[in-house]
Amino acid sequence: MCGIIGYIGNRNAMPILIKGLNRLEYRGYDSSGIAVMNDSIQVHKTIGKIQDLESILPDQIDGTMGIAHTRWATHGGVTDNNAHPHLSMDKDIAIVHNGIIENSSAIRKILENKGIIFNSETDTEVIVHLISLARKEGLDPLDSVRSALQVLRGTWGLCVMFHDLNQIICARNGSPLVIGLGESEMFISSDPHPLGEHTQKVVYLEDGDIAVVSNDGLSTHRIEGSTDHKVVTIEEQWGESELGDYPHFMLKEIHEQPEAIRQCISGRTLLSEGTARLGGLNMSKRTMKAIPHVRLIGCGTALYAAQVGRLAIEHLARVPSFAHVASEFRQNDPVIDPKALHFAVSQSGETADTLAAVKYIQENDAKVRGVINVVGSSIARQCGHGVYIHSGPEQAVASTKAFTNMVAALNLFALQIGRSRNLPRAAGRSLVKAMRELPSQTESIINSSAPYMDAVQAIKDAKSVLFLGRGFSAPVAREGALKLMEIAYIPCLAYPAGEMKHGPIALLEEGSPVVVIAPDDIQRDKTISNIQECKARGAKIILIHTEGDNIAEHGDVCFTIPPTEESLSPMLSVIPLQLIAYYTALELDRNVDRPRNLAKSVTVE
Ligand code: M6R
Repeated sequence: MCGIIGYIGNRNAMPILIKGLNRLEYRGYDSSGIAVMNDSIQVHKTIGKIQDLESILPDQIDGTMGIAHTRWATHGGVTDNNAHPHLSMDKDIAIVHNGIIENSSAIRKILENKGIIFNSETDTEVIVHLISLARKEGLDPLDSVRSALQVLRGTWGLCVMFHDLNQIICARNGSPLVIGLGESEMFISSDPHPLGEHTQKVVYLEDGDIAVVSNDGLSTHRIEGSTDHKVVTIEEQWGESELGDYPHFMLKEIHEQPEAIRQCISGRTLLSEGTARLGGLNMSKRTMKAIPHVRLIGCGTALYAAQVGRLAIEHLARVPSFAHVASEFRQNDPVIDPKALHFAVSQSGETADTLAAVKYIQENDAKVRGVINVVGSSIARQCGHGVYIHSGPEQAVASTKAFTNMVAALNLFALQIGRSRNLPRAAGRSLVKAMRELPSQTESIINSSAPYMDAVQAIKDAKSVLFLGRGFSAPVAREGALKLMEIAYIPCLAYPAGEMKHGPIALLEEGSPVVVIAPDDIQRDKTISNIQECKARGAKIILIHTEGDNIAEHGDVCFTIPPTEESLSPMLSVIPLQLIAYYTALELDRNVDRPRNLAKSVTVE
């Protein structure tokens, strides 16, 4: 979703800001804009891509301070006027903002009654006018920002630039902001990703913080009172985030799965003891033994990984486990047991619904551990402890390698807690062995010459596609349906295979595509019966099954996966589904990496 980048230093700001915007592109946006301090504040903004912004920029804008933004529309349509930055009426103050101001309509009316003329339909614009009014009343820049924030209700990560000040004032409440510390120059960003090429030293703002940033440093303050900040060194190597030889990030990230899994499990399994060690959890064996139940919380792909994780924990450790939709969690008034273990699962670590659930659990005196990809992200820091999944940067909106690594990390946890309870060493050893084979197994699936084009032909013109699976394959069916739906825009329905006959079977007619995930596990025979039920109604079966299993005769188009342990099979069976979605989207000429209406990190509730 919306992204912010800011620069103050001795270099020309414009190219740094544009490069930063490109780095934030993966978050999803529909317009972008830039403000650079010259003799006056120069603003350029437009709907469309960053290239569209570049095409309207003058060849050069001299100025060593600036702020820029990618906007994902919430309040107000996708228009040039609604794009950020927004200016005060006298054009002396510019603002970029992420988040939502919930009381903006009321403030707007008050400001309009005072004669303020608005240039946009956005909630953001009220902030810049509030600051401007406070400034005119004689407050200094910091206090004028502070007084405006005191009036607001909602969330913000924002940067304000004043015509008469060689400083940028930033503030955070619910929407992340990180400040990068360079040599006589400073960078501001909504996530650490664009900062890596400039500096490893960063300061994360906390909710309620205001920072005054100048060339040579920053001071941090609270909306009420003052504070000291802590400088953090980012150690995570995010590696190469360019496309390289791949046509799309999604395909690149699918191909990165073998290496990503290697990164996730390396150093975390102990073959001789048949267990795993996740130091970041900060939990003793004794605590693990006493856990009454586990709750896992996430959205979208992270939710489906959590659903696999909860099955793995019950299967291996016999601890009751539940997966929850983050956006429903606190609204459903859940009973929080402080002795229970809670996991927040998220690739970006910025998903607002998940973050809100984490805070709710913490307010109810329980701890939450993160299962997160982006190091130093809001959820990771809010949790304090957890497991990094080490997938490396995931830029395509459709999540792929994060799913496999979330499932890997949750299997590691299931193994560790299982071994701290009753899981026999031999069972632990065979899981460790199976895990160590996953990188080469995923590689063989990715590199196989499977019949993707046949699957695409069966799916591309379908009114809808049904995805079926049982047990560990039920969440995989949901993940496959989500992938196809979000990038190919084909309506998809995912059901536990046995539930299909209680309703969705009514959809089936001659040629209806049904994707069935049926690895060689204890559910397999029952799933075959469900395939027969579909075939009897004319359905075309796209079947994912285990190599060497003789069930190919039940499928019209078949994909094989190597044999593995039951709880690990989702990491293999999901790969053909990712590729089916990818090739179908390609065939339909969709924007694979940036599907319409979606954002990479969803930072609003
Ligand atoms: O960053 P998160 O893992 O918290 O994101 C959760 C969902 O927004 C995300 O998985 C979304 O569903 C993806 N577009 C799925 O491909």
